[in-house]
Amino acid sequence: MQQVFTNLELQTALADRASSSLALVPTMGNIHRGHLELVKSASQQADRTAVSIFVNPTQFNQADDYQHYPRTLDADLEQLAAAGVDLVFTPDVEQLYPHATLRAQVEATVAATGLEGAHRPGHFRGVATIVCKLFNLFQPTIALFGKKDYQQLAVIRAMVEELFLPVVLGAEETVREADMVAMSSRNSRLTAGQRQIAPLMYATLQSLADQIPAASDYSSLEQSATATLNDAGFKVDYVAIRDRYLQLPNQQTRELVILAAAELGNVRLIDNLEIEH
Ligand code: PAJ
Repeated sequence: MQQVFTNLELQTALADRASSSLALVPTMGNIHRGHLELVKSASQQADRTAVSIFVNPTQFNQADDYQHYPRTLDADLEQLAAAGVDLVFTPDVEQLYPHATLRAQVEATVAATGLEGAHRPGHFRGVATIVCKLFNLFQPTIALFGKKDYQQLAVIRAMVEELFLPVVLGAEETVREADMVAMSSRNSRLTAGQRQIAPLMYATLQSLADQIPAASDYSSLEQSATATLNDAGFKVDYVAIRDRYLQLPNQQTRELVILAAAELGNVRLIDNLEIEH
């Protein structure tokens, strides 16, 4: 596995590409099985697999969250090498943001509105901007993202389609712990007590999924699920039943996604569940 640190080194490493295909998995590091599933899928779909590890400052709303984001580069490199990754890009902030002021940004409109967009102002602008930069630096044939960050995927899809970016997007299912908690780099920051409460988030999504077919009023379902989580010690930002484009569904909408975001202590967790009924 080759490791490159600068945009120039990356360009050189990719110069011999000729017509070979390249799959990119953008990450912020602290590699876990969720990331490794993306890598596995990437390596099955392209000649070469590349991973970027960059904790992107512009997508964090709170300086505290950015500072405490787990950085485990040595262990990450070991796992990625073992997974057969060909190229890993580990730039510092100055590489990707060389100017003190950002002179251009990418902003998704509809997909970035509401849900995470409402609770994390500017977050998706940061995500779209960095992913666009990475797409331009790597020029990948295909790029893989996880459904764990459902709205992020919608934002990136909107960007790619609206701006005609020449890349194919692949989406992978959420990888979970044995107790069904979605794997996340932030899980390691939960206390033992909070970690015991965490499975209730997905359990609540499942319970909503069971109730939806017979329900006439989705908003009361959302409210009672919110109350359940708050009573258990979460501080809920939202529980939302949406169509697959994250718009409000009607009773006839068959393909839905249930999304939740909540804080446990100072750790913010998100999860979702796609259903068809
Ligand atoms: P990060 O949180 O490191 O996630 C990198 C990729 O792994 C994303 O596509 C995310 O959806 C996916 N992922 C995370 N946890 C997962 C899980 N449990 N199962 C399946 N996939 C999972 O998402 C980001 O980084 C950043 O916003 C990024 C896109 C890299 C831009 O900075």
